[in-house]
Amino acid sequence: MKIILIGASGTLGKAVGRELNARHEVVHVGHSSGEFQVDITDRKSIERLYEKTGDFDAVVSTTGNIHFGPFDQLTPEQFEVGLRSKLMGQVNLVTSGLKRIRSGGSFTLTSGQINDDPIRLGVSGAMVNGALEGFVRSVAIELPCGLRINLVSPTVTEESWGAFGPFFPGQKPIPAAEAALGYAKSVEGPQTGRVYRIGWSRDQ
Ligand SMILES: NC(=O)c1ccc[n+]([C@@H]2O[C@H](COP(=O)([O-])OP(=O)(O)OC[C@H]3O[C@@H](n4cnc5c(N)ncnc54)[C@H](OP(=O)(O)O)[C@@H]3O)[C@@H](O)[C@H]2O)c1
Repeated sequence: MKIILIGASGTLGKAVGRELNARHEVVHVGHSSGEFQVDITDRKSIERLYEKTGDFDAVVSTTGNIHFGPFDQLTPEQFEVGLRSKLMGQVNLVTSGLKRIRSGGSFTLTSGQINDDPIRLGVSGAMVNGALEGFVRSVAIELPCGLRINLVSPTVTEESWGAFGPFFPGQKPIPAAEAALGYAKSVEGPQTGRVYRIGWSRDQ
């Protein structure tokens, strides 16, 4: 399969690339790195990216920015960061990708656990992750041509524990390579409209 991996240089993206490269043609995309560059907050930039990549079988997104901060100090502009990047950026990767994806192809997006398992300073990210779940479950029943879509919700990776660990007391981090298996399951398996929780459970 030809897979467009957006966020390929990141912590999750590198692990996903290593997992999928063995079996597929992976096109590495970043904001400032990779074979192609895109700004997912800019719909025209996404359309230019897909014009350059040509047709493909799958899009995997391991990107999306969020502002973390105390709820009573969050400004509208800070909420906008997550809405424009992690939420609408990933939604637009799907809407624009419809023109270029081959029949039977798939989209795989990224969220995280904090909408179900809240942390301090995480309101904006929780809101966006919840919206992504609603989007994926809903759009799965409307996608044409046998197209599929899933969401991967990994816990904190060992590689990111230094930065995020203090916000997740009691959480056991996972290697990014383990999170990458959720992306392989989405791209290579038959399922659609699913949320793959990797390394955490809703009952914790
Ligand atoms: N790391 C974790 O433990 C973890 C766990 C759960 C969920 N997540 C979620 O997974 C996503 C990725 O996290 P990460 O830690 O892997 O991130 P990361 O290491 O900071 O990497 C971010 C990637 O996204 C690209 N990027 C940044 N801004 C972009 C933009 N505007 N348009 C297109 N690409 C852009 C970067 O490209 P350049 O390098 O070229 O700038 C880079 O490839 C985030 O939404 C995060 O919340 C992460």
